Amino acid sequence: MMASQPLRIVVGISGGIAAYKALSVIRGFVSDGHEVRVVATEAAFEFVGRSSLEALSRNPVSVGLYDDVASVTHVELGQSADVVVVAPATANTIAQIAHGFASNLLGNVLLATRGVVVVAPAMHTEMWDNVATQENVALLRARGIIVVGPERGALTGGDVGIGRMTEPEQIISATYAALSARGASSLRGKQILISGGGTREPIDPVRFIGNRSSGTQAVALARAAHARGARVTLVYAHLDIELPSGIEAVPVSTAEDMLECMIRLAPDHDAVIMAAAVADYRVDHVSDAKIKKSASAGVRTLTLVETVDVLASLSALPHRSFTLVGFAAETARGDALLQLASEKFVRKGCDVLVANEVSWDAGIGTADNDVVILVRSSSTGSPPDVLRASGDKLSVAHRILDVLV
Ligand code: CTP
Repeated sequence: MMASQPLRIVVGISGGIAAYKALSVIRGFVSDGHEVRVVATEAAFEFVGRSSLEALSRNPVSVGLYDDVASVTHVELGQSADVVVVAPATANTIAQIAHGFASNLLGNVLLATRGVVVVAPAMHTEMWDNVATQENVALLRARGIIVVGPERGALTGGDVGIGRMTEPEQIISATYAALSARGASSLRGKQILISGGGTREPIDPVRFIGNRSSGTQAVALARAAHARGARVTLVYAHLDIELPSGIEAVPVSTAEDMLECMIRLAPDHDAVIMAAAVADYRVDHVSDAKIKKSASAGVRTLTLVETVDVLASLSALPHRSFTLVGFAAETARGDALLQLASEKFVRKGCDVLVANEVSWDAGIGTADNDVVILVRSSSTGSPPDVLRASGDKLSVAHRILDVLV
């Protein structure tokens, strides 16, 4: 792929026999017109020579954390990279990335980058199958890192099994695919409708039933979709944060207002994301006057009636042509969360459901999120595909949009 603009690519090489194949990865990127910088671990030089890496990348190779300290290489390389491709990634390097160790230059670059990270594991089958490696790889995937391979095939020492690094051509195409999915234009021309914040159901002119939603995840979705070129409408109930610029924002107050607004706007959109925390109940009769404490004799009973379910109403619209994403807030984790989310996925009839654990200090009003994403399977009747994402709410937003793209 000859991109209209050359990409800044860091190729990270760790110490495994597959390092010789990294030469073809570098050559491929360079011949596609991109700027390649190589960051190798000390161990990588047991398998490939510095001269080969420098000749093919046409740049000096960076190895030591303390080389060229004046230009703050460890931060500069990561910050300026559009993508960091680690090929081969040994079990040790995968563990290092999973746990955020900055003990060498590659670890620093990976911590400093905001670009896409692609990792191509290569190791012996036993090491790949080891639960430590598997859990580390799951962590990487949950953070949106693209893991390419490994493949089944011949390994060092005559063994055959899973662990062989994916061929350079495929690593290169997986990198381009990941970049275009995350790319600035991946939602160009699309209209995305997002709801966010917490609705407020009035009790009397001064009181309401509300919830702790801050709207952070919805605002992150709006920002991420806008950055990818979409036209974004955010229908927002109560927010604790500022609205982003560049989007159309429509304020609503109650569940009923939100229903009216979403049903009216949804048909003009390609995707609708219900990230709002919509109240499930409202009082049956809103008092016109402030309810007086003196009239309560110590106890006041409010009769609550269910509000309408906006998400289910959207999914039931006849001839629905937009993709529908719902959320699920559950005070459960692990398998129990997955079970509740799967039931909600079926009940609500959406195409994608993003489930997160909520508690006094998780999920709501926090900067980070940890979600399970259920995606309608392409084969009818099969259970939904399950993906995971965690990190700050903007990264999680991008992961949700990756699924939509
Ligand atoms: N939702 C909605 N209208 C409501 C309540 C919820 O559209 N009256 C949407 C939310 O925006 C979210 C999804 O439904 O996308 C799930 O919300 P959640 O609060 O997790 O579930 P509930 O439907 O309220 O079910 P429960 O309280 O039993 O978990």
